[in-house]
Amino acid sequence: MNSVFSIIFFVIIGIGEVFSQSQTPWLGAGKEVDPYHYTQVKHEFYQNAAVSCAHPLASLIGAQIMKRGGNAFDAGIAVQLALAVVYPAAGNIGGGGFLIAKKATNEFLAIDYREVAPGRASKNMYLDKDGNAQLDLSQNGRLASGVPGTIAGIFSTLPAAKLNFKILIQPAIDLAANGYVITEREANSLNSNQKAFIKNNSYSPAFVKSAAWKAGDTLFQPELAATLTRIKENGAKGFYEGETAKLIAEEMQRGNGIITVEDLKNYQAKIRKPLSFNYGGYQIHGFPPPSSGGIILLQMMKMVENTQQLKKGFQSPEATQIMIESERRAYADRAEHLGDPDFWKVPIKALSNEQYISKRMSDFTPGIASKSSQVKAGDIKESEETTHISIYDKEGNMVSITTTLNGGYGSKTVVKGAGFLLNNEMDDFSVKPGVANMFGAVGGEANSIQPGKRMLSSMCPVIVTKNGKPVIVVGTPGGTTIPTSVFQALMNVLEFNMNTDDAINQPKFHHQHLPDEVFIEPGFPDKLKTSLNSMGYKLTNRNSIGKTELIYIHGNKKIEAAADRRGDDSVAGY
Ligand code: GLY
Repeated sequence: MNSVFSIIFFVIIGIGEVFSQSQTPWLGAGKEVDPYHYTQVKHEFYQNAAVSCAHPLASLIGAQIMKRGGNAFDAGIAVQLALAVVYPAAGNIGGGGFLIAKKATNEFLAIDYREVAPGRASKNMYLDKDGNAQLDLSQNGRLASGVPGTIAGIFSTLPAAKLNFKILIQPAIDLAANGYVITEREANSLNSNQKAFIKNNSYSPAFVKSAAWKAGDTLFQPELAATLTRIKENGAKGFYEGETAKLIAEEMQRGNGIITVEDLKNYQAKIRKPLSFNYGGYQIHGFPPPSSGGIILLQMMKMVENTQQLKKGFQSPEATQIMIESERRAYADRAEHLGDPDFWKVPIKALSNEQYISKRMSDFTPGIASKSSQVKAGDIKESEETTHISIYDKEGNMVSITTTLNGGYGSKTVVKGAGFLLNNEMDDFSVKPGVANMFGAVGGEANSIQPGKRMLSSMCPVIVTKNGKPVIVVGTPGGTTIPTSVFQALMNVLEFNMNTDDAINQPKFHHQHLPDEVFIEPGFPDKLKTSLNSMGYKLTNRNSIGKTELIYIHGNKKIEAAADRRGDDSVAGY
């Protein structure tokens, strides 16, 4: 530690102790959660409760909340708010998400807090005068943002929690006000986005620094602390009305943004019915539209269930091929049929019908790659920053939350004076039929832009039960790769008998119908590549796919939690 760093470090610790002990018992007390020293825990067993998420500080806060009497819903709220501070690439209050939960009382809860298109949005808003899609506008800057849903989602979750909201938000306020030490990965990520932050902001937000960020630097976010304090004092109105809403609307005026104070005031989270299905004696519960995640997962799992190919085992050419073909077919339906069910009649019953699903596989030929249609789709880009939180508590509550700004750091625009990043979720709409979004996904009328409509998502928070008993809480970021990651993690546990750590960390593959390629992660075995090539598959190397957080409940006070090794992800529990 150099001397400048150590002076800052001791000043911060001093403030942190006074602040923490007077206002919250959770952060810093007894150094249980020390924002200046923390380590990652990737795989651990706990007796009572566990959290797995993208950052060690957020996991530790969730575990502390549960240790001190909160349940998994309390932890879910506190962890999301903490991630909005310590994981700015995807943790957020300026984005949206989905929560699916099974309460200890056996009730299910599915909360949709997806962003919506602003009132002034229109179908062709991202087309130039010649009808060409202007993807820079749907992906960067103020016009790319939908009306944020995260805070509405958090307040829709609160009735299931036990603790006072002020306790749940305080750790996030402390982290934003007093700072936290960033990791090497975070430093690199902030450095590689400096130009984009400068380009998309009218001022110098907390993420911009004249010298390069490095591991061990402390990130302070005082404007965000003030926004979180307004939410602490005024509830959801502290975000959707008053000062914060005014700051968002003013930020829109600094460029081409269209979100108004009325849009913010009108935003509502929605309660949905989970999409549940049976697989091999388990019950899988996923999220319905406006996420495509649940239906794609259902189709993929049902297409491979009880097949001879799957029985050949993990990374066998046979099992891998049938899984690829199920991915291809499930994603083909996405573009055509899926959108916000409040605006488009999604044929959910037909798409999940077992006869329909088995007919979809009737042209599957073992050993020979099928062909996707030749419609051109774009490449999958590398920025797929969403984030997932899996939680289980000692009462038996299971909570699975996936939340996002869409791309890494969303629109890259920070609301001046409010200190948080806005999403670039408008790109998840189909900006023009057949034009690929940043994940290479195409769409049509079902997912066209309309004011107040939710853009189609791939997020796939899942819980798995067996005869009503908790078994798995799982989910991942990764744009369109989300359902395939969850699919493979579940197959690895339920079919290939892996422990949670292996299940989420084995190299993955992804096919999304278009482009007609199998994307493979580093570490994908050479022998399997040769087999798939000889069947006619085009394999494309890419960077890592997803960051899956998986909790397996063995029963008898044995909870196995794993956090993905591809990031700073970490588990905590007790
Ligand atoms: N923004 C990524 C998704 O919702 O699928």
